[in-house]
Amino acid sequence: MTELQIRKMRFAFADYDVPFLWNEENPAFSSMANAVSFLAIGFEKMIVQMIREAKPLFTDPVIAAEAEAFVRQEGQHSTAHRQHVAGLIRSYPGLRETLDRVIGEFDDLTANTPLKYRLAYTADLEATFTPVFKLMLDHDATLFALGDDRVASLFLWHFVEEVEHRSSALIIFDAVVGSDLYRMRMAPSIFRHVMRTIRIACRGFNEHVPLADRQVDAMSMFATHRFRRRLGRVVPALRISDRGTMPRAFDSLPVREQLVALSGVVRSQLPGHDPRHENLPALADRWFRRFDEGYDVTRWYTADQPVRH
Ligand SMILES: [Fe+2]
Ligand SMILES: [Fe+2]
Repeated sequence: MTELQIRKMRFAFADYDVPFLWNEENPAFSSMANAVSFLAIGFEKMIVQMIREAKPLFTDPVIAAEAEAFVRQEGQHSTAHRQHVAGLIRSYPGLRETLDRVIGEFDDLTANTPLKYRLAYTADLEATFTPVFKLMLDHDATLFALGDDRVASLFLWHFVEEVEHRSSALIIFDAVVGSDLYRMRMAPSIFRHVMRTIRIACRGFNEHVPLADRQVDAMSMFATHRFRRRLGRVVPALRISDRGTMPRAFDSLPVREQLVALSGVVRSQLPGHDPRHENLPALADRWFRRFDEGYDVTRWYTADQPVRH
């Protein structure tokens, strides 16, 4: 079983305005991370209901304990993301509808798909996290350090705990369903759902957050959207509305490392994938050590500075 610790965090989202553009140096990444916050709420709500449903099927107490620790970590993440998103909704009330729609996409899975599909969904998606989050955490100096420390610290905490429980969802899936073939067969529909839900969040951002505050076309993280925008410049009949510039969140990161992350994502979906053997971000180790030493991890980059009000 994975040794998981339940850490309760309180970020100061209610104390002062939560900016949409929380890292002004990288508007595309700011927008992408905000979308992750919206998704996390819906996804983690689905996980809580899924584990409740799966509980009677855990015959091994070790698996039951793994599931319990896993779902408790996810519950903490969800609570913190709700506070982050509530801060955004205070500034942009239209985003309430966006959040409801994102949660609705996951509620739909809970209501209309079998338990084994949701177990596969969770295992597949969580398996991609370690390579992707490693890419981000290895470049925290540009992606996180320059931003609002509440938002940055929320993501650092969430991502290092995703690394910590990287095996949990697969362990649970294997115990209840135990079919790599099923997981692989479902992967295309699972990732279609993920992309559809991210699209809902990004469309909501374009609709409800003024361009001056978000700086970029939130849809620019989709290659198809960038292609359609470029096509529209050449073929006026196909022109779609200009909702801002189209930089990509990882433009500043070394291409080689982006490719390593991408191949990690592909590898994470193959049969027999064991997340225990993943390359881990150095920051995760540092984070856990500092947490154990009592460091204020809710203000990762500014803990030594006076509290802002
Ligand atoms: Fe999580
Ligand atoms: Fe997770």
